[in-house]
Amino acid sequence: MKKLTTRQFKTFCDIVYKESGIYLTEEKRELLNTRIGKRLRKLCIQPDKYLALIQKDPGEMKNFLDAVSTNHTYFFRESKSFKYLEKGCRDIWCAACSSGEEPYSIAAYCMELGVQPSILATDISISCLEKGKKAIYPRQCSTNIPNPMLRHYFQKGQGKWEAYIRVKAEIRRLVHFGKFNLIKDKLPSRKFDSIFCRNVMIYFDNPSKESVVNQLPGVLKHGGYFIIGGAESLNGLNHSLKYIEPGVYKKTKE
Ligand SMILES: C[S@@+](CC[C@H](N)C(=O)[O-])C[C@H]1O[C@@H](n2cnc3c(N)ncnc32)[C@H](O)[C@@H]1O
Repeated sequence: MKKLTTRQFKTFCDIVYKESGIYLTEEKRELLNTRIGKRLRKLCIQPDKYLALIQKDPGEMKNFLDAVSTNHTYFFRESKSFKYLEKGCRDIWCAACSSGEEPYSIAAYCMELGVQPSILATDISISCLEKGKKAIYPRQCSTNIPNPMLRHYFQKGQGKWEAYIRVKAEIRRLVHFGKFNLIKDKLPSRKFDSIFCRNVMIYFDNPSKESVVNQLPGVLKHGGYFIIGGAESLNGLNHSLKYIEPGVYKKTKE
């Protein structure tokens, strides 16, 4: 496939931004070429035809957003912030959960505290949500899982599944996966003790970040924690959360 022209690149970027809040800069041009290229080859279609297709076919728009989003995650990533999952923290929203490693880590951590949480795990990427529901991961993904939790909450595959681990049913049933677009969708109707929205706003520009940090706390209970990635910050954004430490904010005002 030929590389995207500047016009095509800009049009794809505008669509990505409008649909997901992900702000792609010129440095992401190669990345976009590679990711869209795979989809174009699969469908045997040229970029302009594909641009027209995603705008009229919501199913293909989902595939497109899947292809361009970065889903990197791992078990017990930045687990330092899990200490805010105190006893009594039951209703948790993991708002950009990728393929499930994050909500399952949170569930295992809560179980070790003696709490059975109910975790809403959402993402824009349908393929990630499907992986999360299956809860099967290559065995090498277990390196970061503390040993006692690995023993309690994960099963090792046997036979043709030998190279995999699976989250046990007692943890799977605590995590409820669903699609939620941080930029476009209507908030859930229930309130949460904690909201994790980690390592996703790094891909957003300030207006999109501001929209997320003003919307999501609307379903956070008073005194609840809003947790972002350790390297992320809400500095310079208008919001009403109280800063606690890097990556951790608390709702102290309605
Ligand atoms: C880098 S991963 C982070 C996953 C996990 N939170 C972590 O910290 O390991 C970012 C995730 O955000 C999702 N994402 C990107 N834009 C989104 C949006 N507008 N709404 C919901 N999820 C989005 C991507 O699909 C991806 O799975």
